[in-house]
Amino acid sequence: MTTDIEALKASYKAAGQDHVFTFWDKLSKDQQDALVAQLVEFDPSEISTIAKDTIESFTKLTSGSAAPEDSSVEPLPESATFSLLDSSKEQQDKYFAQGLELIAANKVAVILLAGGQGTRLGSSAPKGCYDVLLPSHKSLFQLQGERIERLQNLAQAKAATSSTKVAIPWYIMTSGPTRKPTEEFFEKNNYFGLDKANVFFFEQGVLPCLTTDGKIILESAGKVAVAPDGNGGFYKALVKAGVIADLEKRGIEHVHTYCVDNCLVKVADPLFIGWAADLKLEVGTKVVRKRDAAESVGLIVAKNGAPAVIEYSEISKDLVGLPDSADPSILKFRAANIVNHYYSVPYLQSIPSWPASVLPYHVAHKKIPYIDLATGVEDPKPTKPNGIKLEQFIFDVFPALSLSKGQFGSMEVHRSQEFSPLKNAPGSKEDSPETSREHLLAQSKGWLEAVGATFPNSETVVEVSPLTSYGGEGLEKFKGTVFDKPEYII
Ligand code: UD1
Repeated sequence: MTTDIEALKASYKAAGQDHVFTFWDKLSKDQQDALVAQLVEFDPSEISTIAKDTIESFTKLTSGSAAPEDSSVEPLPESATFSLLDSSKEQQDKYFAQGLELIAANKVAVILLAGGQGTRLGSSAPKGCYDVLLPSHKSLFQLQGERIERLQNLAQAKAATSSTKVAIPWYIMTSGPTRKPTEEFFEKNNYFGLDKANVFFFEQGVLPCLTTDGKIILESAGKVAVAPDGNGGFYKALVKAGVIADLEKRGIEHVHTYCVDNCLVKVADPLFIGWAADLKLEVGTKVVRKRDAAESVGLIVAKNGAPAVIEYSEISKDLVGLPDSADPSILKFRAANIVNHYYSVPYLQSIPSWPASVLPYHVAHKKIPYIDLATGVEDPKPTKPNGIKLEQFIFDVFPALSLSKGQFGSMEVHRSQEFSPLKNAPGSKEDSPETSREHLLAQSKGWLEAVGATFPNSETVVEVSPLTSYGGEGLEKFKGTVFDKPEYII
């Protein structure tokens, strides 16, 4: 398809963004084509409008001049919550069995959010490839893939006929920077034993990086500086990449979406799926109790009566440390978002009919490589934040759901069993490779102790493979076993 260059230039000029053509005449034909290929993907007037609205409201928010909204924020009402901490084992077993039946009927899929660049961790490889130094040296991707395999095997026993092959399709959202290395890693590791036909990669979109006054930044003479559009780019990408169509083709009804960096994530958790399906939710989410006021987690709340997440980067200081009025030893706002979301497929099918305003943009100040438009000198590594990235957040669709109609619910889970995120570089006190390892090994030991195994030496390290046990089941044979060597993998 040939592009009308003059029309393209006019559209960028009308939006006040025609500086992107500053070096046009100096570019080779190939460079011009590459720039055009980038520019046709954006709507410049939409970008200018988003920039104006978003930068203004974000400046107000961070400068404290936004209208106070704290009074309209409350914890989610009990009617919309279910907790594994205080519900009966019978109830939980019932939901688990329901979820496993749905898996056995091939009605459940998982979607992994793996487009983030993991800048805080300081590793250039996609986060899922990370080795948290378990005795097995399994990567986060491998742990997740093996949990899928274990569940497929558990559900196979419940399948209608023995010839029905149970599969949990795994859709992996990558971004420009993570796609190739992610696909190569899966290929190199033989898809962790899963059937390649049930693993799909797709890519989220990008947005141009902007100066603080809303101008598109050129990285070099012929290239716009771009960044992934945030994990809220998920919805657009599901449609564009044909994921929704594939879910329909396979007859999938329930989807579990999760964040790549949590070594304890219960991928396709039957209990979560069974609960959400039983309640006929459109969207559900898991929470854990926030560790302390400083933890960098979003908070699940009710805002103006609708479900919402207040992200840690945007929460007011007044709300964050408030004590609970009934029990001042705990925080009032303590329902931490762990990026484990449930979606019914009919809900996802409605994406094309959503108004564009459903997902607002958020602003992150970053160091962005740029070319000086006046001198043509490039700075590939600015030392200070010099511009902004616009991002959408996956949870910003929550406020459009009704609590009174029962469209949304949250499930509180045990942190020690389900949440240990890998955010920070080795050596950090919290949310580091070391804490991931420690928490996963503690979980393994806890499962074995629960069936009556013993560890005479507290230094003994034991790692239970997800292929052996998904959530502590199937370990009864270790009753009475004394684990007295330094290290085990079972
Ligand atoms: C995220 C949550 C936060 C939560 C915390 C728990 C969002 C917006 N924030 O914060 O509320 O308490 O995790 O660990 O969900 N990703 C993409 N594409 C992108 C950016 C991110 O796919 O453009 C993926 C990442 O690969 C990751 C997930 O989204 O799997 C979360 O992203 P991350 O940047 O780690 O979010 P946090 O800031 O830690």
